[in-house]
Amino acid sequence: MAQDAPREAPGRLPGRVRIAPSILSADFARLADEIDRVGAEADVLHVDVMDGHFVPNLTIGPLVVKWIRRHCDLYLDCHLMMDNPGQYLEAFRDAGADSCTVHVEVGGTGELIAQMRELGLGTGLAVNPETAFEACEPWLDRVDMVLVMTVHPGFGGQSFMSEVVPKIARARELIDRAGLDVELEVDGGIDPRTAPVVSLAGARLLVAGSAIFGQQDAVAAAGAVRAAATRALADRS
Ligand code: DX5
Ligand code: ZN
Repeated sequence: MAQDAPREAPGRLPGRVRIAPSILSADFARLADEIDRVGAEADVLHVDVMDGHFVPNLTIGPLVVKWIRRHCDLYLDCHLMMDNPGQYLEAFRDAGADSCTVHVEVGGTGELIAQMRELGLGTGLAVNPETAFEACEPWLDRVDMVLVMTVHPGFGGQSFMSEVVPKIARARELIDRAGLDVELEVDGGIDPRTAPVVSLAGARLLVAGSAIFGQQDAVAAAGAVRAAATRALADRS
């Protein structure tokens, strides 16, 4: 059944850097408290779904998303690191996801985007470090968001791959050249040191897991990531 248009991701203003805390680094035994810890600085809550095939790790599925949805009103984006996302999109929608992000590497991208739209989900397309951004190019005018991975997906707490920075800049160039309203997101190794690098390259939605949940004051840590990126953009102009 087709749904209404996807809920607009909040806080999206021209030039504003948005933060998406990744719950992968949260204490899952206290997930509701952990989400409350970051709520004030979270524009989007990033939910990492791993299937043990597309990536060598297992995490969570629609059942957990359902309880997160009952607990909070944050915009929920499910990053689907899985071989067969199409089989689960409806379940994530029914659980309360606002958007899903699928990987271009799994193929069938056109069908997956159409299916997400039909379900009323916001549409994200992710690209791994070793995949050229050109793989996403044919779909740019049909997605709400592109996610450039800045680590190999599968685990939190990995080091930022600076060799991906030119790809972020390339993505920004292609989005702007086509005049598209597509959010440019990055994920992996984002902290106050790397946030300026990715924002200057053109990213505006920054996923961060360990740099936020790994800190005692999580909301201050999220604010520090945002402030570092925002300052870099201000200094440039
Ligand atoms: C990695 C996940 C990320 C992860 C990022 O496969 O997609 O969202 O949580 O964690 P940090 O910010 O610790 O690199
Ligand atoms: Zn992720």
